[in-house]
Amino acid sequence: MKINLLKLSGAKLSTLVVFAGFDTKAKKPVTGKLPAELAKCLADLAVDETFLGNKKEVCFLRSADLAGFQNILWIGLGPASDINEETIRSASSTVLASLKAAKVKSAGVWLETAGKFVNIAKSAGALTEGLMLSAYEFDELKSKPKEKKPAALEQISLLTSAEASNPVAQAVARSQILAEAQNFARRLGDLPGSHLTPTMLAKEATDIAKGTKIKVTVWDKARIKKERMGGLLAVAAGSSEEPRFIIMEYKGAPANKKPVCFVGKGLTFDSGGISIKPSQSMEEMKYDMCGGSTVIATIYALAKLKAKVNVIVLIPSTENMPGPAATKPGDVYVARNGKTVEVHNTDAEGRLILGEALVYGSEQKPVAMFDAATLTGAILISLGNTHTGVFTRDAKLRSRIQKAADATGELVWALPLTDFHRDDMKGTHADLCNISGNRLGGSSTAAAFLEEFVGEGVSWAHFDIAGTAWNVNSRFPYCPRKSASGIMVRTFVELAESYF
Ligand code: BES
Ligand code: ZN
Ligand code: ZN
Repeated sequence: MKINLLKLSGAKLSTLVVFAGFDTKAKKPVTGKLPAELAKCLADLAVDETFLGNKKEVCFLRSADLAGFQNILWIGLGPASDINEETIRSASSTVLASLKAAKVKSAGVWLETAGKFVNIAKSAGALTEGLMLSAYEFDELKSKPKEKKPAALEQISLLTSAEASNPVAQAVARSQILAEAQNFARRLGDLPGSHLTPTMLAKEATDIAKGTKIKVTVWDKARIKKERMGGLLAVAAGSSEEPRFIIMEYKGAPANKKPVCFVGKGLTFDSGGISIKPSQSMEEMKYDMCGGSTVIATIYALAKLKAKVNVIVLIPSTENMPGPAATKPGDVYVARNGKTVEVHNTDAEGRLILGEALVYGSEQKPVAMFDAATLTGAILISLGNTHTGVFTRDAKLRSRIQKAADATGELVWALPLTDFHRDDMKGTHADLCNISGNRLGGSSTAAAFLEEFVGEGVSWAHFDIAGTAWNVNSRFPYCPRKSASGIMVRTFVELAESYF
């Protein structure tokens, strides 16, 4: 599906999409300036409450023949005073579903009706992003991908009364890059372990970087050994697939500017290892590399946006399998920073591989370091699948993160990381143990384990995306119901840009 900008007067499209909010005081729909015919149509619809502009309200008028359009699709945005970019991003999924259901071939969205509530450039951006995200489908593994029906909607035009201004065009272009990046992250998430081994993940990272200024370096098992990444080797030991350590670098700023470092968990399948998981929903553990796909998509978007910032992305990648050479409960390994770790539960493996990447990331002297990982089941208990858990001891960084997330509409929630949690992770026969002696607060103790691998003085935050990386139950209508969400790509891009 393509999205472009067009002037309303010249548009030859069958259907016009018009937004309206609900004025809670006057109890009637409210929208931007409309051609007289449409203003009358909206007033008529309100008389018998056919359409009031309530959230998710839809009114499709076929063969209405108004203002030069055959059909009119009214979309409600809800209480006028509450409408923001996220409202428009979400409403885009209703737009797309309604147009598909009505089997229209071409449609235009009257941009200024959203622009009544949110400035027009931001509206255009949110619409573009919401439409492209809502159009995501993962069907490449079906033997017969859905036939392209002739009626399929292939183009949506954003319509303006005058020639679109530069900021509007720029917002559309930016959102196209962001949505493309998020959909790329989703596709990697949706690919099963059979189709996305660590080697293949490294190839995906290499391929997406082609034609951009991103440099990709991939370390194989021998190099990982040489680099003393004991945690990554300990997890990979039970798998017949070789691990990979993927390094992606983008230099958008002078070489002397410190990089922002993003680390992503790249577990292409997590069976739990010897501490094997129950079979129920184990197939979902193909999504255990979603932190990795988030950070690949982040650097891709930043490169395409020509962001003036230096970025390093690190993805430790492996399977977690119970093969004959697998790490056994009680085994001890030595990490790159020299700390020794007792592995009491081989299913707490994400922290082992992330630890090594955090050590390496700290060595690059970043201005800040962020990691994203489907790290703990416990985060689902505390935050459900709406919010990503954020852990950092750095209050300034926490507010920077909140600001970035607020700007993108992605939901984050700060959770504690304290000395209590750190003390829980002490080992008996080694420096550290990979699980806590305390059953409770599992997401915080996992974060405390990661912190052991962050270099002195490095400003760092951990994002636990185990609840938000896939199947978010349509809480976010532009996220597929049963697919990866591409969560935190937008926030990470925003965060990186905040270091201009
Ligand atoms: N990949 C899982 C975490 C996970 C669980 C993500 C459910 C999404 C949904 C992780 O490697 C894991 O298994 N963690 C264990 C840790 C425990 C053994 C301390 C968990 O959360 O149960
Ligand atoms: Zn696990
Ligand atoms: Zn895992």
